[in-house]
Amino acid sequence: MKAAVLYGINEALTIEDVAIPELADDEVLVKLKAASLNKRDWWIQKGQYAGLKFPIIIGSDGAGVVEATGKNVDENLKGKKAIIYFMKNWGNNERFQSQDAIMLGLPENGCLAEFVKVKADQIFSKPANLSFEETAALPVAGVTAYRALFTKGECKQGDKVLISGVGGGAGSFALQFAVAAEAEVWITSSSDEKISKAVAAGAKGGVNYRMENWDKKLSDEAGYFDVIIDSALGDGFANLAGLAARGGRIVFFGGTAGNLPPLNGRPIFWKQISILGTTGGSPSDFKNMLAFIEEKNIHPFIDAVFSLDDAEKAIRTMDSSAGKFGKVVLSIS
Ligand SMILES: NC(=O)c1ccc[n+]([C@@H]2O[C@H](COP(=O)([O-])OP(=O)(O)OC[C@H]3O[C@@H](n4cnc5c(N)ncnc54)[C@H](OP(=O)(O)O)[C@@H]3O)[C@@H](O)[C@H]2O)c1
Repeated sequence: MKAAVLYGINEALTIEDVAIPELADDEVLVKLKAASLNKRDWWIQKGQYAGLKFPIIIGSDGAGVVEATGKNVDENLKGKKAIIYFMKNWGNNERFQSQDAIMLGLPENGCLAEFVKVKADQIFSKPANLSFEETAALPVAGVTAYRALFTKGECKQGDKVLISGVGGGAGSFALQFAVAAEAEVWITSSSDEKISKAVAAGAKGGVNYRMENWDKKLSDEAGYFDVIIDSALGDGFANLAGLAARGGRIVFFGGTAGNLPPLNGRPIFWKQISILGTTGGSPSDFKNMLAFIEEKNIHPFIDAVFSLDDAEKAIRTMDSSAGKFGKVVLSIS
């Protein structure tokens, strides 16, 4: 089968022929129709991710059709249009993944290939309202945003929500989910075009985080936020407690712009603010997200579609977020 293989840190993705994976008894083989990239894939290629190993077929997100089933798997799964849940061994606790949890695309070979093998319980039905390319955009960014917003942030109708860095894969899902939940959504972004795009998608307004005193401008216009979703950290994170309402939840899952800056603790305890870390999502989060996407007929923002042959070109688009909005997808077959 054709696959995009990563041989080492800062190496280009190489397209080559590799063996189709052999199935264990509890696994299925998926013929991939589409895959999508996450910042995780980019960090892995840069060598800035825990547990690196090479060679590896990266890619946590995929959608396709079940081609074959292992001995202990219901044969009726064959032919099923599937979206793959990227995590193996989440475990029994909804609050956190088990120590044995691992992700597709590192340490296990992932979805930048014509076929991938996963455990049968990682197969979910493709949402009926989406194409395979749209479906492949969902898994990591979608469920991370869903869990951050609803499971951790407890977002409900009428809440005031702030999403920082809306143009990213996860940020654009958080926007769509919060709008669909009938929250009042505000956003930040590096560009006025992206702010306009978010407003067209239902956000009430936004500010450019590159402006001086962007937080003051935002609170003057919008007031205070019940839920704040962030994946940037860096200096801007220090402003978020000031923007949070009493009882507000600040939920974060990434550090695109750096690490945690020094924080003023006083507004955090005085306003009874919770700062919550989150990662990925449980199988229940994943199932709930898929149902929500169908119910609300949400179609992901796709920034660009490449062929598998152009996997390296596709991942290079993640070197800068300038001009991008939403996910980068690979069309496979
Ligand atoms: N823990 C998890 O499970 C998990 C899951 C998914 C993602 N993540 C992490 O979350 C981050 C986003 O992932 P992604 O796949 O959505 O990446 P992405 O598509 O590359 O998005 C990155 C976005 O970050 C925003 N950004 C950059 N600098 C910023 C700043 N100083 N302040 C606010 N926003 C800023 C930009 O928004 P604009 O374009 O609007 O300027 C950019 O589009 C990454 O660090 C990733 O590793 C973690």
